[in-house]
Amino acid sequence: MTVDAGALLFKHNTPPAPAQRKQEEIQAKGIVDAYNLMNYDAVGISAYDLAAGLQFFRKIAAQSHFPWLSADIVAKADGRPLFTPQIIVEKQGMKIGIIALTGSRAQTLPADAEAKITDWHEILPQIVAELEDKCDLLILLSSLSDRENKEITRTVPAINLLIQAGTRTANMKPALLNKTLACRTGKQGKYLGELVIKWDKKKIWSQDVKIKLLNQRRNLDRINWQLKRLSAKGDPAEVDKQKPGTLQKYNFLAGKKQALENKIKALKEQAADHEQNSTWKNQFIAMQVSMPDQAEILKIVNETKRRVNAAGKQQARGIKMIKSYAGSRACRSCHKKQYDNWQAGRHGRAYRTLEEKKQQYNLNCIYCHVTGLNRDNAPVALSLNENMRNVGCESCHGPGKQHLLDPSKQKMILRPTSQTCQSCHRDEHDDSFVYKEALSRLSCGAEGR
Ligand code: HEC
Ligand code: HEC
Ligand code: HEC
Ligand code: HEC
Repeated sequence: MTVDAGALLFKHNTPPAPAQRKQEEIQAKGIVDAYNLMNYDAVGISAYDLAAGLQFFRKIAAQSHFPWLSADIVAKADGRPLFTPQIIVEKQGMKIGIIALTGSRAQTLPADAEAKITDWHEILPQIVAELEDKCDLLILLSSLSDRENKEITRTVPAINLLIQAGTRTANMKPALLNKTLACRTGKQGKYLGELVIKWDKKKIWSQDVKIKLLNQRRNLDRINWQLKRLSAKGDPAEVDKQKPGTLQKYNFLAGKKQALENKIKALKEQAADHEQNSTWKNQFIAMQVSMPDQAEILKIVNETKRRVNAAGKQQARGIKMIKSYAGSRACRSCHKKQYDNWQAGRHGRAYRTLEEKKQQYNLNCIYCHVTGLNRDNAPVALSLNENMRNVGCESCHGPGKQHLLDPSKQKMILRPTSQTCQSCHRDEHDDSFVYKEALSRLSCGAEGR
């Protein structure tokens, strides 16, 4: 079975900037086209999928060959669900119930008059009660917060497996929250989570026994080691007669050892039943660009990139250059050394890098590969003259037009702060950035003008 808890279509859970909308919608459509080829059984609707509004989402849902589920997006008028709230899928003779919750973080909904998010407390227990008897396994696809998810596992224990939507970078290994197994793959499809389960409705999840056993055995090893050290010179009852502190410690540890041994014995008995219980194992598979892919999906990816770039090019017309910037070439006459260093380095070719990837019109890329922009004013980038392309001098030293007029009075920022660097060196584009280390590799000039 293949499911996705949601947060598939957009990078943000707020509406895309008007200028970016077209490109982001093309990308969302490309993702659905690819998912259509992968036989998904169900996908949950998260706030990130609704970022471009309900109308756009409806269009996308109509083009999807898999069900989008949400039990808590309801019509304002009568409280009835607007999408399929739950489904039952049959796999290998097992009936599997799948429910999805979107959660109140869907900030894009209030503007849409017809829909609202209901409180899961009011609907989930009912749905679960209805499915519980019919199904062998109940799965919740959840875009709720960690806190809410925890509360669900406490108050609706009949849910066996809780898959969280990946809005965070990190994967979350399957772990028991109360009686429910909970897990998450990191955001933006960077990982595929594979979960292999042996499930018997009458039994409970029980991998935790094995883990507990392992932990207690480690504790025992540590205590044994300490005891051995304390008795290295002979029996502490004899040797340490004059040192009551040491003797006390020895006796305390010996007592602890006994208690641990009893605990381990009990856990071992539990673990013996383990083989008959419901178990799981999992792995996360990193999705790499270099991975051999289905030709059909690769075609969709390339076509989507091409369309995103073309849409940006359309938009490039009629946007003005930012006024306070001079462009890197204007600095060359007085700071030749820095200019040459810059041009030879990677900042000096950042735009070319995008051109080589044919992504120089992609508004999701360009603002970090040119000078003086951010995500919000990214469309300006489309009409930057050549002099403002690449990560220019003014990305780090600030706008320079005034400085050109009177260099000794109108000073530039000498040393950019770590925040300046991290406006670009962040997130998935550089998640291992260390300011000091990076500065040391940055050879801007150092030896005068
Ligand atoms: C007409 C020559 C001239 C041009 C063009 C020029 N600078 Fe300067 N720059 C200077 C001089 C002179 C100083 C030293 C000023 C001082 O310390 O009094 C300086 C200093 C600097 C400093 C060091 C500031 C400090 O506090 O030590 C930086 C950084 C700098 N310039 C960046 C730039 C950038 C970026 C550009 C292009 C936008 C640029 N400069 C264009 C002449 C120029
Ligand atoms: C406007 C965005 C932006 C800013 C600001 C920025 N960088 Fe970069 N940086 C980039 C991009 C984009 C690349 C990669 C360019 C390429 O390879 O085409 C890069 C590459 C680098 C590299 C080389 C890559 C590597 O890891 O070997 C170093 C080092 C670096 N930057 C350090 C810094 C430091 C230090 C600062 C702050 C003083 C800084 N950058 C500010 C966008 C930026
Ligand atoms: C938030 C800023 C930011 C955005 C947005 C961004 N980049 Fe970058 N990019 C960087 C930085 C910083 C580096 C340098 C990181 C390093 O190499 O350590 C970089 C490096 C690169 C490199 C060269 C590094 C390599 O792996 O060979 C390529 C290619 C690239 N980016 C393409 C893109 C594309 C395509 C997009 C849009 C999908 C994009 N970037 C969006 C900041 C960004
Ligand atoms: C990625 C950020 C970055 C870029 C891009 C950058 N610089 Fe620098 N620049 C620095 C840092 C960091 C220093 C060192 C500041 C210090 O000494 O603490 C510096 C120092 C300088 C200085 C002071 C003298 C010196 O060499 O230490 C000048 C002048 C200067 N840069 C000019 C330029 C010019 C001109 C360009 C474009 C051709 C440029 N910088 C591009 C980060 C940058």
